[in-house]
Amino acid sequence: LVSGRLCAALVASLFVSTAASAQVQDRTLKFGYSTFEAHPLGQGANKFVELVGQKSGGKIKMKVYPATQLGSETQTISATQGGVQDIVGTSTAPLVGLVKEYAIFDFPFLFSNEKEADAVVDGPVGQTLLAKLSDKNLVGLCFFENGFRHVTNSKRPITTAADVEGLKIRTMQNPVYIDAFKTLGANAVPMPWPEVYTALESGAIDAQENPYGIIYVNKLNEVQKYVSVTKHAYSPWAMIMSKKLWDKLSPEEQKIFVDSCNEAKTYQRQVSRAEDAKIISELKAKGMAINELSPEETAKIKAKLQPVIDKYAPSVGEELVRQAQTSI
Ligand code: PAF
Repeated sequence: LVSGRLCAALVASLFVSTAASAQVQDRTLKFGYSTFEAHPLGQGANKFVELVGQKSGGKIKMKVYPATQLGSETQTISATQGGVQDIVGTSTAPLVGLVKEYAIFDFPFLFSNEKEADAVVDGPVGQTLLAKLSDKNLVGLCFFENGFRHVTNSKRPITTAADVEGLKIRTMQNPVYIDAFKTLGANAVPMPWPEVYTALESGAIDAQENPYGIIYVNKLNEVQKYVSVTKHAYSPWAMIMSKKLWDKLSPEEQKIFVDSCNEAKTYQRQVSRAEDAKIISELKAKGMAINELSPEETAKIKAKLQPVIDKYAPSVGEELVRQAQTSI
């Protein structure tokens, strides 16, 4: 009798796994994100789609919906939680609304270079944060890189903290960014990315902050004059799958997604870093004035922003902060 039941259970589990695979293989998965396909994030996304296709022998198919076609990052994260969208690529900043510990990535000047960022996002801190998404109906696969963020504006070069005062600056929908810019005396306006170009064009806002690649592919040179290399924060970009879909996958299929993400991330970061150098001269050629800040002024801005870190460190938790510090 026992062996009969065991046999029935095995047949049932085999059936579930085959049926599940069929559900994934019978349709084209929806992968939406906010940047353009030409951006290094878009190139990384295409590499991920290609790898999943290869590793599954062409059985798992995905269609990319770049350039906010499926909505803002907050909207596409919600759609992925609901299973309406299968995969989302997003800057991690909007995730703080779901998992407060993500705020660690938004701490001003947490990283000085990409090596430090890689050590933290690929180390225990990154793994813990990816795992925390599962309580929110999401599965974190790996982190791509959006990059170090710099301020652009239409008014003046930023060379000291005082130059930020009074600027009406768009921030991501994230409390750490809002507080950081308020602390510097700016008028911080949280706004979904799809609204930003028009708001800059109409003069509703003066400034925004993003990495070089985003400034370039979104042609912000048309609506902004100054790029100040503030390097005030680093944006990881999380690749996230709907848990509804994940739970239907066989362990082999789950592994295909994680492995493909990790392979694609190495490629994506290389492209991102190689393109940064080229973009700086392109932006200059398009008429943007690019200025560096002196180490002394950067240190002063950093000191002014320490209270923001102190405010959010308790919600991140001592252990994660300590792990981040030891990984750097
Ligand atoms: O500024 C943002 O909101 C993000 O950096 C962007 C451009 C949507 C990319 O993730």
